[in-house]
Amino acid sequence: MLLAPVVASKVIIVGAGPAGLLLCLLLAKKGIPVTMLEMTDKLDENPRATHYGPPAMYELNRAGIGEDLRAEGFIPRSVCWRKIDGTVLAGLDGSVMDGDPDRMVCLPLNKLGTILYKHVTRQPNAKILFKHKVTAIGQDDDKAWVDVQSSDGESRMEADYIIGCDGANSQIRRSLFGDWKFPGRTWDEQIVATNTYYDFTKFGYEDANFIIHPEHWYMASRISKDGLWRVSYGELPGLSAEELLSRQPMKFKTMLPGHPDPSDYKIASISPYKIHQRLAEKMRVGRFLLAADAAHLCNPFGGLGLTGGIVDVGGLYDCLVGIYDKVATSEILDIYNDIRRKKYNDIVDPISSENIRRLFAQDPEKALETDEFLQLCQRTATDVEFSREFQTGVNALKYDFTKHYSNSTEAKDAVVGRNGIPSSGLAAVVGVTD
Ligand SMILES: Cc1cc2nc3c(=O)[nH]c(=O)nc-3n(C[C@H](O)[C@H](O)[C@H](O)COP(=O)(O)OP(=O)(O)OC[C@H]3O[C@@H](n4cnc5c(N)ncnc54)[C@H](O)[C@@H]3O)c2cc1C
Ligand SMILES: *[C@@H]1O[C@H](CO)[C@@H](O)[C@H](O)[C@H]1NC(C)=O
Repeated sequence: MLLAPVVASKVIIVGAGPAGLLLCLLLAKKGIPVTMLEMTDKLDENPRATHYGPPAMYELNRAGIGEDLRAEGFIPRSVCWRKIDGTVLAGLDGSVMDGDPDRMVCLPLNKLGTILYKHVTRQPNAKILFKHKVTAIGQDDDKAWVDVQSSDGESRMEADYIIGCDGANSQIRRSLFGDWKFPGRTWDEQIVATNTYYDFTKFGYEDANFIIHPEHWYMASRISKDGLWRVSYGELPGLSAEELLSRQPMKFKTMLPGHPDPSDYKIASISPYKIHQRLAEKMRVGRFLLAADAAHLCNPFGGLGLTGGIVDVGGLYDCLVGIYDKVATSEILDIYNDIRRKKYNDIVDPISSENIRRLFAQDPEKALETDEFLQLCQRTATDVEFSREFQTGVNALKYDFTKHYSNSTEAKDAVVGRNGIPSSGLAAVVGVTD
């Protein structure tokens, strides 16, 4: 049974993950009333993603939370690629980025969520409704709506625009395109992500380390100031969750420096997961928009997933502000769709795929002769200017939608399709860590 429509918010955001919370904060600060619907009763507490690359930091700084992030998290100094015996093949020294306000920050995702939430609750224009689950959607010429299940029963809520930030299993995406329509592929390789206390520094490990090995490939990355590390490793296809968990002590003993026994480390959390490369058919259908995981997925090596999602959100914010300030028509949302999908296809998908294949699909003994990326990393060791350029290559994910505003001096030149994405190998450089 549907009740009469309640709440006429200008914008409804579905999903209080990092993407939804950030968009909510940006819009509310700009004075645009926004209602957020979250099906669970609190923010997700799993640590999940950990690193925010320069184009994500640009948006988080713009939202006014960069200081909080840097205070609670830290700025990783360096990253390297190694053989399983610990030999360093190549690395990147982050200190060439000193002073850059958008320099990468590391902070587990649940803590980013807490910071975002704190800032959102200070905004009178923002309303977050927990235990509100979207079950169906609709739209006409004047408005869009969602049907919502809550403890009060079922209701319909309307808005000018409704944004699906509802994650990988997005109901908005399913309702728009069908349950199993999320084009792309799933990797055969599985990943086990752990948060582990183990003293890697004893073995000379850098802040982030990628180990190249056909079977025992992994990443070990410091994720807190008190000795917690993210260890994510590859596993054989086809193993069940129980098999994956029972193999973990063997995996650690084989692959980690010092070949530790379980008594030598402490695992704070462990979660096996499947990895995908997928992009929704469209990121705009009329008054519905998709952003972040609801729109696209990639494997975590290189940290392009959430970084790409945060960049979506910043762009969508500029498009909506343009519409509400009457310097853009709703057509700017088609440009959002075109550009953000192109950035996924041209950058996120190929580069994140290279990042993971680099770890398992080559012979570590020959990597320096054949892997162009590692050769470029080697070059950064002696060329500071190149190093800076290389480490900010990921900024190719950014796109300035305000140049499509009618009052923009650039408006007349800004035609979609002409604003190509730099195709140089430099775009290949990413946040490098998970
Ligand atoms: C186990 C796991 C480990 C991960 N590890 C890494 C990692 O190591 N590195 C990395 O870069 N990325 C990792 N990721 C991915 C990263 O966490 C995501 O990219 C990021 O969380 C996406 O943010 P989001 O806001 O788009 O979606 P989410 O964080 O998924 O948030 C979506 C929100 O929408 C809500 N929702 C869903 N459906 C509805 C509905 N019908 N009605 C109302 N609300 C709804 C959900 O409850 C959720 O709160 C991991 C993800 C998972 C699941
Ligand atoms: C164009 O309009 C936007 C949105 O109102 C405003 O923020 C911006 O300053 C304007 N730009 C110029 C060049 O006037």
